[in-house]
Amino acid sequence: MPEPREKIIAANWKMNMTLHAGLALLVELNILLSSKQSKHTVIVAPPFTLLQSAAHTVAETGIKIAAQNCHQAKSGAYTGEVSAEMLQSVGAEYVILGHSERRQYFGETDELVAEKIKAASNVGLKVIYCCGESLAEREAGTHFELVKHQITTALKGFQPSIIKDVVVAYEPVWAIGTGLTASPEQAQEMHAFIRETLQGIFGAEIANVTPILYGGSMKPANAAGLLTQPDVDGGLIGGASLIAQDFFDIIHSLPA
Ligand code: PGA
Repeated sequence: MPEPREKIIAANWKMNMTLHAGLALLVELNILLSSKQSKHTVIVAPPFTLLQSAAHTVAETGIKIAAQNCHQAKSGAYTGEVSAEMLQSVGAEYVILGHSERRQYFGETDELVAEKIKAASNVGLKVIYCCGESLAEREAGTHFELVKHQITTALKGFQPSIIKDVVVAYEPVWAIGTGLTASPEQAQEMHAFIRETLQGIFGAEIANVTPILYGGSMKPANAAGLLTQPDVDGGLIGGASLIAQDFFDIIHSLPA
């Protein structure tokens, strides 16, 4: 029997939460989680300003901390930017890269994301790599092609030893923050395709252990349908992660 894949529920707080509001949310989440533990991996990605105190607050709770971005350079004259090493030094274990909002508003390409993955892996940060099509691409029927192109461009250059620390998040852009969600069937179809794509590049061993998360308007009401699909290994949650009870309910929608 192959090892069961790691299941992950990750919160992407985006540009929300001041220091005090963010720490209060983490404390609330931790109280809920200590009433009913989950054996699955729980990750929270607060904004940069909260990373250090968030890491301190969740120490010994089992909750892991992610950053939402990093710069590709090791250090230097890049005013306003944050390096992977800086994130690692304040307690982040993961970094989200390639999020569609970074692509859309900050012009990030998969070539750039590949450089960022390299920077992150050089300091031992695990990566949550996001991919997914726009509404126009889905309507034109080019979504599989597009996602394959994204994954190939961003990940192909890496050794399996680096890819084993990469989690993929499939986030159809039309479902992010819109209230529209991919149906469980649409999610499963794309996740299976992503696994097949990973298998084509890195082989079955890596493809079988890589967690593939779904993201895009996941809420307590639709989480169970998505999270029980065979190739859906968890979720990347935006809006609903800002409410402790909703995020907790999504964590417990994962099959035990
Ligand atoms: P959403 O965001 O859950 O608010 O749609 C998901 C994401 O962007 O990661």
